[in-house]
Amino acid sequence: MTKREIKHIDKDTLKKWIEDESLTEDLSKKADKIRREVYGNKIFLRGLIEVSNICKNDCYYCGIRKSNRNLNRYRLSKEDILSAADFGYELGFRTFVMQGGEDGFFTRDYMVDVLKAMKKRYPEVAITLSLGERSYEDYKAFYDAGADRYLLREESSNPDHYRKLHPYEMKLKNRQECLYNLKKIGYQVGGGFMVDSPYQNTDDLIEDIRFLERLEPDMVGIGPYLVSHDTPFRDFKDGSFTKTLRLVAILRIVFPYALIPATTALGTVNPRGRELGLKAGANVLMPNLSPQTAKKSYNLYDNKLNTGLEAAEAKKDLEKELASFGYRVVDERGDVTDFGNKN
Ligand code: 5AD
Repeated sequence: MTKREIKHIDKDTLKKWIEDESLTEDLSKKADKIRREVYGNKIFLRGLIEVSNICKNDCYYCGIRKSNRNLNRYRLSKEDILSAADFGYELGFRTFVMQGGEDGFFTRDYMVDVLKAMKKRYPEVAITLSLGERSYEDYKAFYDAGADRYLLREESSNPDHYRKLHPYEMKLKNRQECLYNLKKIGYQVGGGFMVDSPYQNTDDLIEDIRFLERLEPDMVGIGPYLVSHDTPFRDFKDGSFTKTLRLVAILRIVFPYALIPATTALGTVNPRGRELGLKAGANVLMPNLSPQTAKKSYNLYDNKLNTGLEAAEAKKDLEKELASFGYRVVDERGDVTDFGNKN
């Protein structure tokens, strides 16, 4: 497979694939085959640096929402961020993801300074940002300072559903506009959503797939909705593990070229989550490089995986474990343009 193509699946088929539990294995096999045709058995790693859990937004599902008073708030300094990167570089990581809440401290100039310092130290490394909604000018300045990729989940592509997940000030239109701005600037762009977020139905999920078809993302990240006890959504249930796997598989089928992570949320909802995510077509893992205090307080949801193989320190063990499933962890940037390059 050498062409970057999107496969449009009709609505009835999608509905069946999303809802029918008994299809999980078949869909996984189909997706795994496509992933192997495009990326072979390669798994790309991203070193995740959780730069701040301070956020000006109040999303009803998210544990680091502004109104949560029961959270120990932190923000990493430039030195903390760079030493996490040093540590990761030594381990072989060639992509760093700086992710955080929408923290006003991270001004345009501040981030440009951090990005330039990181790029100067490690010119061959890819830098991904995941810092939420920013102005076109901010995104452009970050890109010019060395950022290569940006992750911004649209969360829901149905405006009515989006409204139920977010306070009035947050607009789906702005979010989508951010994604299009990022593409226009030249970033590799990642969208995504939670599976079984409160009030979500199958049509909403199909609407998300349709939006992504229009966006043509380079990366897509999804995970099950997981309860955070300090949010207004504390009484909803965790999302379905197998439905999330089917959606990972569907995304691989629709976007054969895409970089798709087996996310921490997937690993949190099921002990074999990350393994089965890869077997359902995912090809990226994001081990956590954050300092321990940050790891403990970056609580988007309850019981976040925080021992063992999700930690970057365990890279060697992870490599061994993945080899036993037939995968090969590679120390590469893992750009979307590498698709078709299986060796
Ligand atoms: N459960 C699962 N995922 C969540 N996120 C935020 N809160 C939760 C939750 N309670 C996801 C959002 C966000 C990403 C960083 O984490 O989709 O975009």
